[in-house]
Amino acid sequence: MTKMMVNFQYKNDGEMYCEDVPLSSLTEKFGTPLYVYSSSSLKQNYLDLYEAYKEINPLICFSVKANSNIHILKKLVDLGSGLDIVSEGELYRALKAGCPPEKIVFAGVGKKTSEIEKALESNIKMFNVESYPELARINDIAKRMNTKAPVCLRVNPDVDPKTHRYITTGKKENKFGLDFELAIDIFKKSRTMDHIDLQGIHCHVGSQITEVSPFFKALEAVKGFLEQLASEGFEIPVFNFGGGIGITYKDERPQKPKEIAKQLLPCLKNLNVKEFIFEPGRYIAGNSGVLVTQVQYIKKSPPKTFVIVDSAMNDLLRPSLYQAYHHVVALKKHSQKLKADIVGPICESADAFTVEREIDLVEQNDHVVILSAGAYAFSMASNYNTRPRAAEVLVDGENYELIRRRETYEDLIAQEIIS
Ligand SMILES: Cc1ncc(COP(=O)(O)O)c(C=O)c1O
Repeated sequence: MTKMMVNFQYKNDGEMYCEDVPLSSLTEKFGTPLYVYSSSSLKQNYLDLYEAYKEINPLICFSVKANSNIHILKKLVDLGSGLDIVSEGELYRALKAGCPPEKIVFAGVGKKTSEIEKALESNIKMFNVESYPELARINDIAKRMNTKAPVCLRVNPDVDPKTHRYITTGKKENKFGLDFELAIDIFKKSRTMDHIDLQGIHCHVGSQITEVSPFFKALEAVKGFLEQLASEGFEIPVFNFGGGIGITYKDERPQKPKEIAKQLLPCLKNLNVKEFIFEPGRYIAGNSGVLVTQVQYIKKSPPKTFVIVDSAMNDLLRPSLYQAYHHVVALKKHSQKLKADIVGPICESADAFTVEREIDLVEQNDHVVILSAGAYAFSMASNYNTRPRAAEVLVDGENYELIRRRETYEDLIAQEIIS
């Protein structure tokens, strides 16, 4: 069951380890809720992607929104990764992590003036632009700053990525990107924008994509569009293919980057562009992390049994937000089962990690491990119910380090003004 999480395994003593460190030693030291990440998994997943596309010399820009811990960003940057950001806050993190600005790409539909200014000042690689008003704003700001803004236009190829509707981004009805008709129009208008350097196109169709066909369809559409651009006299050196590769949460069998690349590479090479960018998030971080939590109470309320733990939707929102599935296992292996709802202490009925699921038998004070919690997990955490956000630990072999300390109550009220 934990096959998809190679570096989180039960060992002979019946306990789950991250690499060579027993999770119980981490909970003793740092308490719960606790996010634990495997350094080897992060590295291997980054390299899997890089190697898969090596022959086209890809720039892999890890998507900061998936996991924005600066220590993790730095680790990926040290491996050669660039970063995909969607806000000035993420730019701040990216620079703090030591990412060379020429490896930072900036997406998102609502970039504010101050964010554009900061990105231009920082000399980032490029903006992924999502609308004409945004392009016009960037042109005005670049003019005022006496510079030229490097830009990719994000197109929306109207492809169904066959994923949850909340993480579908490349269909006509989504707010992201531009349909081809509008995009060509904007390319033409950009001819009079002296402070825009329109270098390429960007296309991200969705997240947790488990089949190759949506990528294929998007590429075919992009190819047609590039041909149209060429016939209008536009030279397009850059293609950014976004992220989206899915992982196993339950029983999905997503194709591996190598298999996907094998099928897509002929198509990619046919696009006649010079530079390729990819923006993976989930593939690199998703199965590189877990959330460890402690059982507070077992509440029998026939016909239900509730296992009440000390993590909640504020720590890991995905199950409440998307009804996302996460495997949940006992930290100490148990063969007996129990049918239960694992719930958090938050005052919302949506605050549940499992609903009527057969789980490992656990008792009060036992620890449980929520798997596949390395992406869109801590980065979506909040302080709802005035709960401090969890600590984060990074394991490397038999070593580990605290990469974010648990928040204190002082942290929580630090910005409030008490008259
Ligand atoms: C523009 C863009 N690029 C990259 C990503 C990362 O996607 P994933 O984590 O599925 O690889 C996202 C996620 O939504 C995105 O919107």
